[in-house]
Amino acid sequence: MMDSIEKSNIVFLATTNKEDDPNVVPIGLARPLDNETVLLVANFMKKTYENLKENPKAAIVVADVTKCPYQFKGNVEIHESGKYFDDAVEWAKSVMAQLNPKGAVLLKVDEIYSVQPGPDAGKKIE
Ligand SMILES: Cc1cc2nc3c(=O)[nH]c(=O)nc-3n(C[C@H](O)[C@H](O)[C@H](O)COP(=O)(O)O)c2cc1C
Repeated sequence: MMDSIEKSNIVFLATTNKEDDPNVVPIGLARPLDNETVLLVANFMKKTYENLKENPKAAIVVADVTKCPYQFKGNVEIHESGKYFDDAVEWAKSVMAQLNPKGAVLLKVDEIYSVQPGPDAGKKIE
């Protein structure tokens, strides 16, 4: 399931602030680090980044849901220095040299739901 995040070129990242106002953005630099962690690189995030600092929870779906019909939810850690941040900077610069990430956002996935249309829609997988 996590592999398909890597194969998708875009994921949609949903966040909320403390007042529960929802926000969703497309993110290109997202890839799984292991079976329960997704790295998202904060390059241009504004409301998203503020939201994650206020309320460190997020949900993602990949753009190509036909290949990966799942919703991943969990808590978020923001790293603005250290190994995760350095890895995020290296990755971003390998994609586009002008990028200057402000943070590495780690989504620690603790729930996965199916979004497959049909009887399993909304069912908790893990
Ligand atoms: C195709 C595409 C890929 C994007 N990839 C990223 C990304 O990897 N990292 C990032 O911080 N913003 C990325 N953005 C920008 C965000 O989608 C969004 O514009 C930014 O977070 C500002 O919105 P916000 O204020 O709601 O956070 C991407 C936008 C598009 C259209």
